[in-house]
Amino acid sequence: MFKFFKWLFGLGKPRSSYEKEVFSPNQRLAAKIMLKNGRITYSVVKDGKILVRDSYLGFDLRGDTPIRDNLMLVRALSKTFDDTWETKWGEEHYIRNHYNEETLYLSENSGKKRLFTLRFRVFDDGVAFRYEIPPQPEFQRLVIANELTEFNVDINGQAWHIPAYQPDRYEYNYEKSFIYELERSVHTPLTIETPVGYLLSIHEAALYNYGSMTIKPNTRGVLSSDITPLSDGAKAYVELPFNTPWRVIMVADNALELTTNRMILNLNDPPKENFDWVRPLKFIGIWWAMFVGEWTWAEGPRHGATTEHAKEYIDACVRLGVPGLLIEGWNNGWNGDWLENGPTNDFLHPVKGFDLDEVAEYAKENGVELVGHHETVGYVDNYERQLEEAYRYYAEHNIHYIKPGYAGSFMVIQGRREYHHSQLGVLHYQKALELAAKYHIMLDVHEPIKGTGIERTFPNLLSREGARGQEYEGGALSPSHTTILPFTRLLSGGMDYTSGIFDITNGTKRIATTLAKQLAYYVVIFSGMQMAADRPRFYEEKFPKAYEFIRDVPVSWEKTVPILGQIGQYYIVARQGRDSEDWYVGGVTNEEGHRVRLNLDFLSDGQYEATIYRDGDGAHYREEPFAIDVSSRKVTKNDNLDIFMAPGGGFAVSIKKQ
Ligand code: NOJ
Ligand code: CA
Repeated sequence: MFKFFKWLFGLGKPRSSYEKEVFSPNQRLAAKIMLKNGRITYSVVKDGKILVRDSYLGFDLRGDTPIRDNLMLVRALSKTFDDTWETKWGEEHYIRNHYNEETLYLSENSGKKRLFTLRFRVFDDGVAFRYEIPPQPEFQRLVIANELTEFNVDINGQAWHIPAYQPDRYEYNYEKSFIYELERSVHTPLTIETPVGYLLSIHEAALYNYGSMTIKPNTRGVLSSDITPLSDGAKAYVELPFNTPWRVIMVADNALELTTNRMILNLNDPPKENFDWVRPLKFIGIWWAMFVGEWTWAEGPRHGATTEHAKEYIDACVRLGVPGLLIEGWNNGWNGDWLENGPTNDFLHPVKGFDLDEVAEYAKENGVELVGHHETVGYVDNYERQLEEAYRYYAEHNIHYIKPGYAGSFMVIQGRREYHHSQLGVLHYQKALELAAKYHIMLDVHEPIKGTGIERTFPNLLSREGARGQEYEGGALSPSHTTILPFTRLLSGGMDYTSGIFDITNGTKRIATTLAKQLAYYVVIFSGMQMAADRPRFYEEKFPKAYEFIRDVPVSWEKTVPILGQIGQYYIVARQGRDSEDWYVGGVTNEEGHRVRLNLDFLSDGQYEATIYRDGDGAHYREEPFAIDVSSRKVTKNDNLDIFMAPGGGFAVSIKKQ
């Protein structure tokens, strides 16, 4: 470390002022970094238009002076990075990571003369930066009272947002408003349309050992970071060296372009160990039957997780061509009020009537992967006591996938109530993920910490919920919801939306979509674990033709090509199957119908067979949700498909190479 300081200061006198424009590789976007009057600011400019005005940076510390003022520049370094990397699974097989980087080594010029580094990366499609603080003789640990990062966007822009610090975590409907109307903290990704028509999304990458960043206007009325606090009000306790998560501003010319921004993954490290054992999964579940009241999680005459039902569902997996089966309600903790049982939930013993040995054996014989389930209700203390043994228990039963859930409105960690998104919450999710990797277990986390791209480093994190999902149907989901997600939540990574509900008119959980829209979700909403969420009989007996799309659609992709989209109105995307020449297209619309002429020019040369699943005559999410028209025809890349998405509807197309 001392060598480092010698190197740093061996370069002449620190400077009290500095100005530098760091350009993106294509020169259209720039971060302008300025040191003036002892304070450091950045701004973001695209095509000469200012998208983020001078924004201050720094920290308030507990028990110490803020890191913010009296700054001098000790050294600045520039570099260019360009690398294309291969994903294990995901929306793209190969991702280019191309940016110009500027690293500023800063020091206070009075007091303790503390040092810290600001690292900026400017990509063609956004700007990212983080704080890096090295250990120093008089500065070994710190308590963050506030992070003072500003995002000084024009408050006349419009934003799509969900509120932070709410009991249902990320599970809210998006609202659209002017930025000047924002009063409370909102979650990221925070997607913004600027008054001059550019699209921005503020988010973070590589969130480790720190509170999750929410956004709110500060006392100057400028959007700024509001880090989720711990129960004692501190934002984070850190030992040095420490790097904050990356602060990310994605920038796009239009909404559609935003949907393929890969900065969040690029700002995470490659895996440090071998994850070749990771496999994306399609699965059904002993699940929706509980939501519609046919079965129960709790034991009793309608208990879902019985040995018999599990075997029936394993047989259904084989018939349906689905490789995985989720079983919820298998363990002690569901009887009575399950939300109250969190402190004592038992993840090591199946309930009477569910023989895990027998079920696991039967699954193995039939080549079916079981997806285990741990509903913690947020009682992390209780869960962590059992965690390793619970993973080992599943691993011994050949179970390689787990869906953990944290359904409580807060977590209980070290005996205290903490936010899921606090530093202690983040540390728990990370501990569970790393331990899962040790047991070669893949996760689909419900009520998770938000996505910040760490699945690049830990590809066994196949999916998460982290938004209002299909379980909110039955009145709480508007048809526009899934036309907003691709531009907001899905910028943070895949989501387990639990698609494929065919029992649309069920009296307990009425679904506000057409049947075709349920199919579209498999292409529109990426997830490394994709559920066919309804009961098997709805696929096999009720709508076998529509089901064929769910059977065929891949979980992992070679390439993603967004086709059309307006936030909150409609969205259409085409994806090529991983290591395949076949393509799939999905489109969703809000409560209004939308006609499109789908140009197939994303295909390669040659003949394809297209099967089109579209809303049929008179289809309407309320009046006529089952009207679906399935037809096949030969196509080439020179063809167009005329498609009408009914109100609350959508479409799906499989296009197979001949
Ligand atoms: C909430 C999850 O999102 C849902 O999928 C699960 O069934 C329930 N919690 C019970 O664990
Ligand atoms: Ca949930």
